[in-house]
Amino acid sequence: GEGAERGRDLQGLRVVVSAGGTREPIDPVRFLGNRSSGRQGVAVACAAADRGAEVTLVAAHIDANVLAAASVSPRVRVVRAGTAAELGDAVREAAVGADVVVMAAAVADYRVAEVSAHKLSKEQADGPEVSLHLVQTEDILAGLASGRAPGQTIVGFAAETPAPDETLLERGRRKAVRKGADLLAVNRVGWAEGFEVDVNALLVLDRRGELVAEARGDKRAVADALWDGIRKIRAER
Ligand code: CTP
Ligand code: CA
Repeated sequence: GEGAERGRDLQGLRVVVSAGGTREPIDPVRFLGNRSSGRQGVAVACAAADRGAEVTLVAAHIDANVLAAASVSPRVRVVRAGTAAELGDAVREAAVGADVVVMAAAVADYRVAEVSAHKLSKEQADGPEVSLHLVQTEDILAGLASGRAPGQTIVGFAAETPAPDETLLERGRRKAVRKGADLLAVNRVGWAEGFEVDVNALLVLDRRGELVAEARGDKRAVADALWDGIRKIRAER
Protein backbone atom coordinates (compact mmCIF):
# COMPACT_ATOMS: atom_id res chain seq x y z
CA GLY A 1 0.00 0.00 0.00
CA GLU A 2 0.90 3.66 0.21
CA GLY A 3 2.68 3.24 3.53
CA ALA A 4 5.11 0.73 2.08
CA GLU A 5 5.68 2.95 -0.95
CA ARG A 6 6.64 5.89 1.27
CA GLY A 7 8.92 3.61 3.27
CA ARG A 8 11.44 5.47 5.38
CA ASP A 9 11.47 8.57 3.25
CA LEU A 10 11.78 10.90 6.29
CA GLN A 11 14.79 9.11 7.75
CA GLY A 12 17.41 11.57 9.01
CA LEU A 13 14.89 14.35 9.57
CA ARG A 14 14.44 15.91 13.00
CA VAL A 15 10.90 17.13 13.39
CA VAL A 16 8.86 18.91 16.04
CA VAL A 17 5.08 18.59 16.15
CA SER A 18 2.85 20.47 18.58
CA ALA A 19 -0.59 19.00 19.24
CA GLY A 20 -3.67 19.35 21.39
CA GLY A 21 -5.34 22.35 22.97
CA THR A 22 -3.73 24.76 25.39
CA ARG A 23 -5.48 25.61 28.64
CA GLU A 24 -5.26 29.12 30.01
CA PRO A 25 -5.88 29.29 33.75
CA ILE A 26 -8.53 31.56 35.26
CA ASP A 27 -7.98 30.47 38.86
CA PRO A 28 -6.57 27.30 40.50
CA VAL A 29 -9.49 25.15 39.33
CA ARG A 30 -10.71 26.73 36.06
CA PHE A 31 -9.32 27.34 32.60
CA LEU A 32 -10.20 28.57 29.11
CA GLY A 33 -9.80 25.67 26.70
CA ASN A 34 -10.90 24.42 23.30
CA ARG A 35 -12.23 21.27 21.67
CA SER A 36 -8.98 19.99 20.17
CA SER A 37 -8.44 16.31 20.98
CA GLY A 38 -4.90 16.27 19.58
CA ARG A 39 -5.77 13.46 17.14
CA GLN A 40 -4.59 15.20 13.98
CA GLY A 41 -1.34 16.42 15.52
CA VAL A 42 -0.58 13.01 17.02
CA ALA A 43 -1.28 11.44 13.62
CA VAL A 44 1.22 13.87 12.05
CA ALA A 45 3.83 12.93 14.69
CA CYS A 46 3.27 9.17 14.33
CA ALA A 47 3.30 9.30 10.52
CA ALA A 48 6.68 11.06 10.62
CA ALA A 49 8.10 8.54 13.11
CA ASP A 50 6.85 5.59 11.05
CA ARG A 51 8.56 7.12 8.00
CA GLY A 52 11.87 7.29 9.89
CA ALA A 53 11.98 10.80 11.38
CA GLU A 54 13.07 11.60 14.95
CA VAL A 55 10.07 13.36 16.47
CA THR A 56 9.54 15.64 19.44
CA LEU A 57 5.83 15.86 20.22
CA VAL A 58 5.04 18.98 22.22
CA ALA A 59 1.78 17.93 23.80
CA ALA A 60 -0.76 20.41 25.12
CA HIS A 61 -3.99 18.91 26.43
CA ILE A 62 -4.51 15.65 24.52
CA ASP A 63 -7.03 12.86 25.16
CA ALA A 64 -5.18 10.21 27.19
CA ASN A 65 -5.92 7.38 24.75
CA VAL A 66 -4.78 9.55 21.82
CA LEU A 67 -1.48 10.39 23.54
CA ALA A 68 -0.94 6.72 24.43
CA ALA A 69 -0.77 5.91 20.70
CA ALA A 70 2.17 8.30 20.24
CA SER A 71 3.99 7.24 23.39
CA VAL A 72 4.53 3.70 22.12
CA SER A 73 6.61 4.84 19.16
CA PRO A 74 10.35 4.62 19.96
CA ARG A 75 11.10 7.62 17.73
CA VAL A 76 8.60 9.96 19.45
CA ARG A 77 9.76 11.93 22.49
CA VAL A 78 6.88 13.62 24.33
CA VAL A 79 7.25 17.01 26.07
CA ARG A 80 4.25 18.34 27.98
CA ALA A 81 3.02 21.94 27.84
CA GLY A 82 -0.09 23.44 29.43
CA THR A 83 -0.50 27.06 28.42
CA ALA A 84 0.25 28.92 25.18
CA ALA A 85 3.31 30.47 26.84
CA GLU A 86 4.62 27.06 27.96
CA LEU A 87 3.96 25.60 24.52
CA GLY A 88 5.85 28.47 22.89
CA ASP A 89 8.88 27.93 25.13
CA ALA A 90 8.86 24.15 24.59
CA VAL A 91 8.47 24.41 20.81
CA ARG A 92 11.23 27.01 20.45
CA GLU A 93 13.60 24.88 22.55
CA ALA A 94 12.84 21.73 20.54
CA ALA A 95 13.03 23.66 17.25
CA VAL A 96 16.76 24.39 17.65
CA GLY A 97 18.39 22.21 15.02
CA ALA A 98 15.08 20.77 13.79
CA ASP A 99 14.43 20.40 10.06
CA VAL A 100 10.64 20.72 10.22
CA VAL A 101 8.29 22.24 12.80
CA VAL A 102 4.56 21.51 12.49
CA MET A 103 2.26 23.63 14.66
CA ALA A 104 -0.82 21.44 14.90
CA ALA A 105 -1.69 22.60 18.41
CA ALA A 106 -4.84 24.63 18.99
CA VAL A 107 -3.18 27.54 20.75
CA ALA A 108 -5.31 29.95 22.78
CA ASP A 109 -5.43 33.38 21.16
CA TYR A 110 -6.09 35.02 24.53
CA ARG A 111 -5.12 34.38 28.12
CA VAL A 112 -6.53 35.79 31.34
CA ALA A 113 -4.61 38.96 32.17
CA GLU A 114 -4.40 38.28 35.89
CA VAL A 115 -4.83 34.72 37.08
CA SER A 116 -6.52 34.62 40.49
CA ALA A 117 -4.47 32.92 43.22
CA HIS A 118 -7.68 31.69 44.86
CA LYS A 119 -10.84 30.12 43.51
CA LEU A 120 -13.23 32.83 42.34
CA SER A 121 -16.50 32.81 44.22
CA LYS A 122 -19.92 34.25 43.51
CA GLU A 123 -19.77 35.70 47.00
CA GLN A 124 -17.25 38.28 45.80
CA ALA A 125 -19.32 39.23 42.74
CA ASP A 126 -21.42 42.38 42.55
CA GLY A 127 -24.27 40.77 40.65
CA PRO A 128 -25.21 38.14 38.07
CA GLU A 129 -22.62 39.25 35.49
CA VAL A 130 -18.86 38.95 35.53
CA SER A 131 -16.14 39.92 33.03
CA LEU A 132 -12.78 38.36 32.35
CA HIS A 133 -10.00 40.63 31.14
CA LEU A 134 -8.18 38.80 28.33
CA VAL A 135 -4.96 39.68 26.53
CA GLN A 136 -3.56 38.19 23.32
CA THR A 137 -1.00 35.41 23.51
CA GLU A 138 2.08 35.54 21.30
CA ASP A 139 1.78 34.09 17.81
CA ILE A 140 4.21 31.16 18.10
CA LEU A 141 3.94 30.14 14.43
CA ALA A 142 4.58 33.65 13.10
CA GLY A 143 7.63 33.91 15.38
CA LEU A 144 9.00 30.57 14.16
CA ALA A 145 8.41 31.59 10.53
CA SER A 146 10.19 34.93 10.84
CA GLY A 147 13.10 33.46 12.83
CA ARG A 148 13.61 30.20 10.98
CA ALA A 149 17.08 28.85 10.33
CA PRO A 150 18.17 28.24 6.72
CA GLY A 151 16.70 24.97 5.48
CA GLN A 152 14.13 24.78 8.27
CA THR A 153 10.51 24.25 7.19
CA ILE A 154 7.70 25.77 9.27
CA VAL A 155 4.19 24.37 8.89
CA GLY A 156 0.94 25.68 10.39
CA PHE A 157 -2.57 24.30 10.71
CA ALA A 158 -5.74 26.33 10.39
CA ALA A 159 -9.18 25.13 11.39
CA GLU A 160 -11.70 27.33 9.62
CA THR A 161 -15.45 27.85 9.56
CA PRO A 162 -15.72 29.68 6.21
CA ALA A 163 -18.43 32.33 5.85
CA PRO A 164 -21.15 31.54 3.27
CA ASP A 165 -19.69 34.05 0.81
CA GLU A 166 -16.19 32.59 0.62
CA THR A 167 -14.61 29.21 -0.02
CA LEU A 168 -12.30 27.35 2.33
CA LEU A 169 -9.54 27.90 -0.24
CA GLU A 170 -10.08 31.69 -0.32
CA ARG A 171 -10.07 31.94 3.44
CA GLY A 172 -7.05 29.64 3.78
CA ARG A 173 -5.14 31.69 1.19
CA ARG A 174 -5.46 34.86 3.20
CA LYS A 175 -4.22 33.17 6.34
CA ALA A 176 -1.34 31.41 4.51
CA VAL A 177 -0.07 34.74 3.19
CA ARG A 178 -0.53 36.46 6.58
CA LYS A 179 1.26 33.75 8.60
CA GLY A 180 4.41 33.51 6.49
CA ALA A 181 4.89 29.80 7.21
CA ASP A 182 6.25 27.60 4.42
CA LEU A 183 3.02 25.60 4.41
CA LEU A 184 -0.42 26.01 5.93
CA ALA A 185 -2.72 22.98 6.23
CA VAL A 186 -6.31 24.21 6.17
CA ASN A 187 -9.28 22.16 7.27
CA ARG A 188 -12.97 22.86 7.68
CA VAL A 189 -14.42 22.63 11.17
CA GLY A 190 -17.89 23.11 12.58
CA TRP A 191 -20.03 21.83 15.39
CA ALA A 192 -20.04 18.40 13.76
CA GLU A 193 -16.83 18.49 11.72
CA GLY A 194 -13.14 18.35 12.45
CA PHE A 195 -13.04 17.73 16.19
CA GLU A 196 -13.16 14.43 18.06
CA VAL A 197 -13.65 12.55 14.83
CA ASP A 198 -11.32 10.39 12.81
CA VAL A 199 -11.90 11.83 9.37
CA ASN A 200 -10.61 15.10 8.09
CA ALA A 201 -10.24 17.03 4.83
CA LEU A 202 -7.27 19.21 4.21
CA LEU A 203 -5.92 21.77 1.76
CA VAL A 204 -2.15 22.34 1.92
CA LEU A 205 -1.14 25.84 0.77
CA ASP A 206 2.29 27.38 0.34
CA ARG A 207 3.20 30.87 1.57
CA ARG A 208 1.88 32.45 -1.63
CA GLY A 209 -1.43 30.68 -1.09
CA GLU A 210 -0.89 28.16 -3.91
CA LEU A 211 -2.40 24.71 -3.45
CA VAL A 212 0.42 22.15 -2.95
CA ALA A 213 -1.58 19.09 -1.87
CA GLU A 214 -5.12 18.08 -1.04
CA ALA A 215 -6.17 15.18 1.17
CA ARG A 216 -9.30 13.60 2.50
CA GLY A 217 -9.62 10.55 4.68
CA ASP A 218 -8.75 9.45 8.18
CA LYS A 219 -6.37 11.65 10.13
CA ARG A 220 -3.46 9.32 9.38
CA ALA A 221 -4.05 9.53 5.61
CA VAL A 222 -4.24 13.30 5.90
CA ALA A 223 -1.00 13.31 7.94
CA ASP A 224 0.79 11.24 5.28
CA ALA A 225 -0.43 13.60 2.55
CA LEU A 226 0.88 16.55 4.56
CA TRP A 227 4.32 14.93 4.84
CA ASP A 228 4.26 14.34 1.06
CA GLY A 229 3.63 18.08 0.64
CA ILE A 230 6.43 18.95 3.07
CA ARG A 231 8.85 16.68 1.18
CA LYS A 232 7.81 18.27 -2.09
CA ILE A 233 8.46 21.87 -1.06
CA ARG A 234 11.73 20.92 0.67
CA ALA A 235 12.90 19.21 -2.52
CA GLU A 236 12.05 22.31 -4.59
CA ARG A 237 14.34 24.59 -2.60
N1 CTP B 1 -0.85 29.62 16.40
C1 CTP B 1 0.26 29.94 17.15
N2 CTP B 1 0.17 30.81 18.19
C2 CTP B 1 -1.01 31.38 18.49
C3 CTP B 1 -2.16 31.08 17.73
C4 CTP B 1 -2.04 30.19 16.68
O1 CTP B 1 1.33 29.43 16.84
N3 CTP B 1 -1.08 32.22 19.51
C5 CTP B 1 -0.71 28.68 15.28
C6 CTP B 1 -1.53 27.43 15.37
O2 CTP B 1 -0.84 26.40 16.04
C7 CTP B 1 -1.75 27.09 13.91
C8 CTP B 1 -1.74 28.43 13.21
O3 CTP B 1 -1.14 29.35 14.12
O4 CTP B 1 -0.67 26.36 13.37
C9 CTP B 1 -3.07 28.94 12.79
O5 CTP B 1 -3.91 29.05 13.90
P1 CTP B 1 -5.22 29.90 13.77
O6 CTP B 1 -5.92 29.91 15.09
O7 CTP B 1 -5.96 29.46 12.58
O8 CTP B 1 -4.59 31.35 13.43
P2 CTP B 1 -4.82 32.74 14.10
O9 CTP B 1 -3.74 33.62 13.58
O10 CTP B 1 -4.93 32.61 15.57
O11 CTP B 1 -6.17 33.22 13.45
P3 CTP B 1 -7.67 33.30 14.03
O12 CTP B 1 -7.82 34.70 14.50
O13 CTP B 1 -8.51 32.96 12.84
O14 CTP B 1 -7.80 32.31 15.16
CA1 CA C 1 -6.47 31.32 16.68
